[in-house]
Amino acid sequence: MLCPYHAWSYRLDGSLRRAPGFDGTGIFDPSVHGLVELPCAEWHGLVFVNPSADAGDFSAQVEGLEDIVAPYELERLVTRGHHDYVVSANWKVLSENYQECYHCPSIHPELCAVSPPRSGENYHHPAGSWVGGWMEIREGYQTMSLDGTSSASPLRGLDDLHRKIVDYIAIFPNVLVSLHPDYVMTHVLTPLAPDRTRIVCEWHFAPEDAASDEFDPSFAVDFWDVTNRQDWLACESVQRGLSSPHAVPGPLSEEEDGVYQFVTMVAAAYAGKAPRPASASVPDRAVRAERSAQPG
Ligand SMILES: [Fe+2]
Repeated sequence: MLCPYHAWSYRLDGSLRRAPGFDGTGIFDPSVHGLVELPCAEWHGLVFVNPSADAGDFSAQVEGLEDIVAPYELERLVTRGHHDYVVSANWKVLSENYQECYHCPSIHPELCAVSPPRSGENYHHPAGSWVGGWMEIREGYQTMSLDGTSSASPLRGLDDLHRKIVDYIAIFPNVLVSLHPDYVMTHVLTPLAPDRTRIVCEWHFAPEDAASDEFDPSFAVDFWDVTNRQDWLACESVQRGLSSPHAVPGPLSEEEDGVYQFVTMVAAAYAGKAPRPASASVPDRAVRAERSAQPG
């Protein structure tokens, strides 16, 4: 690794390899000028850095998520789409927006065309530091794209249920993982200021598809770029509203129980406790699938 500023180079373990101009001076000890070492955890190809070094056991953070995320084999997927946005909104406004589809009929006509906005349920798993839920893909459509068709294969190993739904998971504090039948989309939110957030959105596909030069990821990238920008405009509007001296918190609708889980998780973290969502009585996916199978 080479620092583009003064060309100091580092080994992959972070130790300093060479600092131009300091060779042979006898007053420079490279061993004390390595990169700062921080605890980190790798999970399904995602790297979580613990910059304060007191975040606790990472496995507790993702407790209950393994069964949901593992079938998608995110660690083997290939990134074939990358968008970098800067949005004039607080990171929590953006994350709250991700937790609910109450707003979908108003601002997401493309999304509603391929996924019923009131379909699915949120998970109830207050042990881990995450919140999420799933939504269904309309009958006859393959995935979340502008026309509901896909240019990729379904990810190997997904059962029939996983081929008809999209899981939307927010891992505290700033990673959003959207699990589709044929691709995974990730958002990483980095606060730049109280009212500004950088969002890196990436799309990941099976190597069998993505290795080919002919593979075109635009069916997924274009759909979510349209939808992302609709959300960013809405969130910037929320941020403007919040800056008013007359802004007061409103009630959450029943469709926003995911937001409730998220804000209680944030509140716990601000209070110095482990960030865990408050309990909410919602069925898990197995119960939901059972209900769907019942006639009438
Ligand atoms: Fe949205």
